[in-house]
Amino acid sequence: MTEAPDELARVARRYRAFAADEAHGVSPHYERLTLEIADSGVILRFLIDLPAPRRQPNLLLGAATLVAGRPPDIASLTDMVTSRADQLRALMLRLTTQTNEPARCAVLLPLLAALPQPLALIEVGASAGLCLLPDRYGYDWGETRIAPSDPTAPVFRCAVTGPAPLPSALPRVVWRAGLDLNPLDVASDEDVAWLEALIWPEQEDRRRNLRAAVAVARRDPPRVVRGDLLHDLVALMAEAPADATLVVFHTAVLAYVSPHEARQCFVDAVRGSRAVWISNETPRVFPDIAARASQPAPDWRFLLAVDGEPKAWTGPHGQSLEWFSGRQVK
Ligand SMILES: C[S@@+](CC[C@H](N)C(=O)[O-])C[C@H]1O[C@@H](n2cnc3c(N)ncnc32)[C@H](O)[C@@H]1O
Repeated sequence: MTEAPDELARVARRYRAFAADEAHGVSPHYERLTLEIADSGVILRFLIDLPAPRRQPNLLLGAATLVAGRPPDIASLTDMVTSRADQLRALMLRLTTQTNEPARCAVLLPLLAALPQPLALIEVGASAGLCLLPDRYGYDWGETRIAPSDPTAPVFRCAVTGPAPLPSALPRVVWRAGLDLNPLDVASDEDVAWLEALIWPEQEDRRRNLRAAVAVARRDPPRVVRGDLLHDLVALMAEAPADATLVVFHTAVLAYVSPHEARQCFVDAVRGSRAVWISNETPRVFPDIAARASQPAPDWRFLLAVDGEPKAWTGPHGQSLEWFSGRQVK
């Protein structure tokens, strides 16, 4: 109990940092709300009753959205935390932030299309598996575009700089599988509602794209196996057809794997196999690869790399691709 004031202050700092570093300039609504949460004794006390990993701003805001729709203001969130505390707590203990952003395929596609075809894809940390369908979406990189074969499929817009090898045709995928600690099911309305709740209020494009990608995926759902990328990847790789180029990729996943030695075990397993390894993660995840990038990291970018070779900075939701000069696609 004597730690409570420290704990409250720590959680308040976390919410202020979220407002300043993540929501600022992206979601005015969440920036305002998280600043107000940081000043709300009622909400902070609710949060410190949860285990530390369950106090994340995205988890609270997403779970609150599931309970009663997007909280319009701090008063309604405070009311929920008091009158529906059990429901909110149960969701925050059960759910994890598993944002599935299919638009990330727009930054993966140049690499996938440049490999010997056809491809066998394994995505580790696949969530609902929407990034496993890069051949079913359309792309708009400005001057280069690829229309989807299904006119109802989403077309992802991605701003490109540098000599990115933008393809004119989709890759040919003959086999695909995902691996996730907790696979979400595109056929489940409940799982899809959670994915939608994780999208921030002002991001209408992302919401529209998610719905369109889910509709595509529901027609032929990707297989996502329950398992840990540290223990279950080798068995999944063994299932892939031998006559296709095997690609193991991940986006926004390896930050959840710690310590660094565990990430290295994963890297060693992939590099010791026949698979091509594509990584799209924050630069902190593989600092040794980021240190070899030929351009300094802009704020809030992921690093795209193939077999440990840095290729580009990318927008975290696939909205931009800043290809490095003077390097060739593998
Ligand atoms: C932020 S989501 C990203 C989903 C997807 N890659 C995308 O970019 O849209 C991270 C996913 O990684 C999964 N994950 C985290 N650690 C994992 C592990 N050790 N093995 C398998 N999956 C893991 C989580 O369950 C979650 O679904």
